[in-house]
Amino acid sequence: MSMIQVSAFSAKPYDQAFLTQAASSDLCFCCYNLPLDAVSAPMANGVEIVCAFVNDDLSRTTLEILHKGGTRLIALRCAGYNQVDLLAAQELGISVVNVPAYSPYAVAEYAISLMLALSRKLPRAYNRVRDGNFSLDGLLGFDFYGKTVGIIGGGKIGQLVAERLKAFGCTMLIYDPYNKDVCIEMGFDVVELDVLLAQSDIISLHCPLTNDTRYIIDDAAIEKMKQGVMLINTSRGALMDTKAVLAALKKHKVAYLGLDVYEQEGSLFFEDHSTEIIQDDVIQRLITLPNVLVTGHQAYFTKEALVHISETTVSNILDFVAGKELVNQVVAK
Ligand code: NAI
Repeated sequence: MSMIQVSAFSAKPYDQAFLTQAASSDLCFCCYNLPLDAVSAPMANGVEIVCAFVNDDLSRTTLEILHKGGTRLIALRCAGYNQVDLLAAQELGISVVNVPAYSPYAVAEYAISLMLALSRKLPRAYNRVRDGNFSLDGLLGFDFYGKTVGIIGGGKIGQLVAERLKAFGCTMLIYDPYNKDVCIEMGFDVVELDVLLAQSDIISLHCPLTNDTRYIIDDAAIEKMKQGVMLINTSRGALMDTKAVLAALKKHKVAYLGLDVYEQEGSLFFEDHSTEIIQDDVIQRLITLPNVLVTGHQAYFTKEALVHISETTVSNILDFVAGKELVNQVVAK
């Protein structure tokens, strides 16, 4: 068999290491540490298989350029595919595959880490102690035991978060219009969104970004929440109207915010901007608040997840080359 060439974009050194480790000897990943968009797409000219990640721009324009260059498969190294114009891909005869679940445990554990770090003010305590300050003023936390936690999206990750927080003694509420039965069978209270918003002390987002879920947390939703609520988003940035959340933080309606994703993360995340003046005033303001914890889309980032992402990506590609059924194909609905 001749060598199978794959152009992999947004491929950091760690991605390259894991992909190379998972690849068979007839598979060659040409890794570019830059995002895929209409400008970089010609770099894949003549290559049938393109491997992309979560913030790559797979709009119609990019797909048309890739199509002209001979691309027939987009192998996403992530679960979410809201960055791909699936209809355009279908029209151009480009198949799209994803990695449906790499480590739901990684993301679930991370969401809970954000909750605990915020409630017990660990970032402040860490900085304080390093400065020789052992005072407890301003570090007062709260028990999770007895609190109500609302999970929006009761899929793989949402269920794991719910199971783990139940063990903390929390009352779990789930809102998921498409996966009610499974959540009820697992023993969770499945409620309407308004009930979840009104009763939860902590709200964690675990649904995909779709037209229905874009800005599911907006001014109106925040209005329905408890005073002093904690919001956690490890799912997709545009599930929240960040400006509305910032306004609610200023008014103390939202008392804690944990974000691993951000609406405008595409131009910021996964890169070092520490010597630049960041132009995005919303994220800059958020970062200054003592009750906000922002991380750069790292919830998935565990060894186990990277092994799984690489192995599934390789298997998706080999199935395509062998003309087999694409078990992880995503199509326009
Ligand atoms: P999943 O597909 O197993 O679960 C998603 C659930 O959301 C499903 O049960 C679905 O019925 C539900 N849902 C769909 N529309 C909804 C709506 N309008 N309201 C409420 N629920 C709705 O997906 P999984 O694996 O649990 O992942 C969830 C999300 O986590 C992904 O869509 C992705 O955006 C995000 N993610 C973030 C990562 C990170 O590193 N920060 C890594 C992996 C995933």
